[in-house]
Amino acid sequence: MTVTTGPLTVLGALDWDTFAARHWDRGPVLFKGVASPPFTRDEVFACAVAACEDGRGHSMPPGVEFGVGRNHPLSPMGRLPRAEDGSWDGYARRMRDELHGERHSLVISGFHTHHHPLWQRERAFYAGLWSRVGQPLTGAITTLFHGNYSHSPVGVHKDRYATFMFALEGRKRMRFWHRRPWEHQVSTVVDYERHLPSSFTAEAEPGDLLYWPASYYHVGESDLSDRPAISVNIGVPREIPYSTFSLPDLLAPARQASSPPATALHQPPGGENELPPVLRDALESVRRLTGERQGPDRRTALALEYATAGGFRPAPAPAPAPVALPDRAEVCAREPVRWARGGHSVLCAASGLVTATRLPPPVLVRLLAALEPGAGVRRVGTLLDLAPEHREDARALLRVLVGFRALTALGPPGTGDGDAATQAAP
Ligand SMILES: [Fe+2]
Repeated sequence: MTVTTGPLTVLGALDWDTFAARHWDRGPVLFKGVASPPFTRDEVFACAVAACEDGRGHSMPPGVEFGVGRNHPLSPMGRLPRAEDGSWDGYARRMRDELHGERHSLVISGFHTHHHPLWQRERAFYAGLWSRVGQPLTGAITTLFHGNYSHSPVGVHKDRYATFMFALEGRKRMRFWHRRPWEHQVSTVVDYERHLPSSFTAEAEPGDLLYWPASYYHVGESDLSDRPAISVNIGVPREIPYSTFSLPDLLAPARQASSPPATALHQPPGGENELPPVLRDALESVRRLTGERQGPDRRTALALEYATAGGFRPAPAPAPAPVALPDRAEVCAREPVRWARGGHSVLCAASGLVTATRLPPPVLVRLLAALEPGAGVRRVGTLLDLAPEHREDARALLRVLVGFRALTALGPPGTGDGDAATQAAP
């Protein structure tokens, strides 16, 4: 079924061939009742709870924004989803009671990093699109929107991402303009009533998927019922220079260094010609991470991350590796493992995660050949039928790969459990 209502196309089923040929980067499409969507209400709630786990303190967890009316407090004040709420319904009830009916919004960026099964489903869902239009090198982003706000807090804007909005609850209306509706040089407009005549809308119900290209200006509107709407948006980068991402990625370890004191920039340690300590340290980090010693390893690690993340970086953190993986345990391959020589290390990657190994490449190649997905259940002792000096390095690598969820550890045959091979968390 294809219905075209003005600039909006409405389709009854999602077919990536048709989508890539006719709609990708062209115009908004509303898919009614998408089969096997990657998101379920309960899993999205569990993911939101995980993302807000650090929200019981005084500062907002990374990537989480909570708004009441037009205010965005810096402290969560106990108003983020938590396991005790039990479900989105429980959370909505608590917000209604605590906020006395005031409208609110919850936005969680980097959403897929908090829940491995959800991330896995997104990758599987989008593999069909990537095979037709190419996988985004730097990774698509996932954002949760929950709330009964009258319109998106940011107002009318455009993104540099193509957006796929999965509606999970409530009616979600998006208003679009195919070009910027104002002349002055601002990027967003919150009060947009005078621009309504040149706009058009699309309404998504639970189960629908709404797509719009990066070129469209848009704003999300609520139907003003008290019941919060929930959606998960996938953003696929379309107008972002590769360098915008690659440099921060390359320097990621430097960014994670402890923050310098606020005054460091203003305290040259000696003489006007010396850099302040914070800039001197930053320069040293850039030299180290892009230089001869670490640069090739870091660049190779990034390439392996991109190659194994399925278009959704960063990947969720690894699960704890099993404490032991004896010869009698068994493993089953779930994800392909890729490897490459860095500058100084041999690196292995799966599920968007990278580790170094001391195994020489010929030994590694032999081990990984036995671990291709579909190879079935393999006994650890058989996999480690290697020269004695390589056996423990290979076992260490297998344990890490279980933590990456590239392998599932099954425990010794016949035991039905993992008493010797501790299972990684889901
Ligand atoms: Fe947007």
